Amino acid sequence: MAYLLALDQGTSSSRSIIFDESGAIVATAQQEFPQIFPQPGWVEHDPLELWNSQLQTARRVLEQSGIKAGELAALGITNQRETTVVWERASGRPVYNAVVWQDRRAETVCARLRERGLGEAIQAKTGLVLDPYFSGTKLRWILDNVPGLRERAQRGELLFGTVDAWLIWNLTGGRLHVSDVSNASRTMLWNIHTGRWDEELLAWLDIPRSMLPEVHASSHIYGEVDAQHLGAAVKIAGIAGDQQSALFGQACFAPGMAKNTYGTGCFMLLHTGDQCATSRNGLISTAACQADQRKQYALEGSVFIGGAVVQWLRDGLKAIKTSTDVEGLAATVDDSGGVVFVPSFTGLGAPYWNPSAKGAIVGLSRGSTVAHIARAALESIAFQSTALLNAMVRDAVSPITELRVDGGAAANNLLLQFQADLLGIPVIRPQVTETTALGAAYLAGLATGVYGGLSELSGQWRMERTFLPTIGRDEAAAKMQGWEMAIRQVRAGEG
Ligand code: G3P
Repeated sequence: MAYLLALDQGTSSSRSIIFDESGAIVATAQQEFPQIFPQPGWVEHDPLELWNSQLQTARRVLEQSGIKAGELAALGITNQRETTVVWERASGRPVYNAVVWQDRRAETVCARLRERGLGEAIQAKTGLVLDPYFSGTKLRWILDNVPGLRERAQRGELLFGTVDAWLIWNLTGGRLHVSDVSNASRTMLWNIHTGRWDEELLAWLDIPRSMLPEVHASSHIYGEVDAQHLGAAVKIAGIAGDQQSALFGQACFAPGMAKNTYGTGCFMLLHTGDQCATSRNGLISTAACQADQRKQYALEGSVFIGGAVVQWLRDGLKAIKTSTDVEGLAATVDDSGGVVFVPSFTGLGAPYWNPSAKGAIVGLSRGSTVAHIARAALESIAFQSTALLNAMVRDAVSPITELRVDGGAAANNLLLQFQADLLGIPVIRPQVTETTALGAAYLAGLATGVYGGLSELSGQWRMERTFLPTIGRDEAAAKMQGWEMAIRQVRAGEG
């Protein structure tokens, strides 16, 4: 039996999972780390916390499983995307906190690029909407605002990486500065058509080429972890941004196959094969995992606050003790009693794209209770996801007949039933919902010969439960209208 280790560095926690070659979980270790909010709209992580927590979980999962690092066929890395780390080439020391994907500070950078009329040209090259979500704008902000860094970057002393590159730099003692196409495609510096860093984009964003990692296919033997970290050298054979990794782990390899991950955010990806589809409805085009030299693409809708709304109920509102309590609390009422919760705490992502929108709870009455708010919070996750699917359908790239789901909040039956009701198509939960980590393990297994090809992986995918729509389309449309009205209120409130 071959074993594969997946390192899953997410927004809220670092996790390590060992899978056997059948895709079954052998052991899991997880560690949360602090979120840093220096000002409204800013979100940071300490890069050393990311690295240390990831390493600790990798060591722990090996210990728990009794499997030695030397027995692993390979490891794969998957990560929160866009989060931007800058460190010293010579010492490996970070020079600034990681600016997290949710962080909105680079809106000033975007506004200047928009004024120069570059929005369309950037979108044409990168597939991305000009928004502070993406790394290039964050990197530009760092170089413009942290004293001394631009000069140092120009002298070649600094390196940039998304979290995958940062972890691999550390795992290999600074020998490798690498990334994969799925992460590169989130930087706004990568041309998704040519599959290269783009000189014009680098000039527009004023980023020195010397800061960037070398990019390969997602399934590729990048190198080896230094033996000191895990007790033996282990091949690093897969890298993917977490959402593309989940698409891969859900065995969505063919055009028309779609998945939605309910994590901190919500990310719906529709595979479009070797065609890079362009959205006219607020979605982005992105590189899907590349198992070989052939480019693969997906359309993506990104919602910034998904499961994080439940965290806010827990930590901000103190309405529940643990995240899993939300389902019970929400189920104590039959519906949200007219309450609609728009959790745009960090602006609105796809398909609305409003970087400065703030959150709102509308439709409150004397009879509203915390249970109605909890229900509305859960419903907001499904409403946002429905807006994404509707945009995909309007783009009409291919019919979407079912949606595979995963991520922490996919354990919530109430949420998934509401999701199926709104969408009007089956919502399917697989047996292994750790598909983000599974995707990274699959990529590493493919590169090292554990698997013969994609059809073998498709054959391993197993359904656990299907949620079928239980309400009529008119009723679903009326609910969606209520949501869109609340969105309009939020936007109007922006002034
Ligand atoms: O684009 C951001 C995304 O990669 C973060 O994913 O799972 O950490 O919410 P997650």
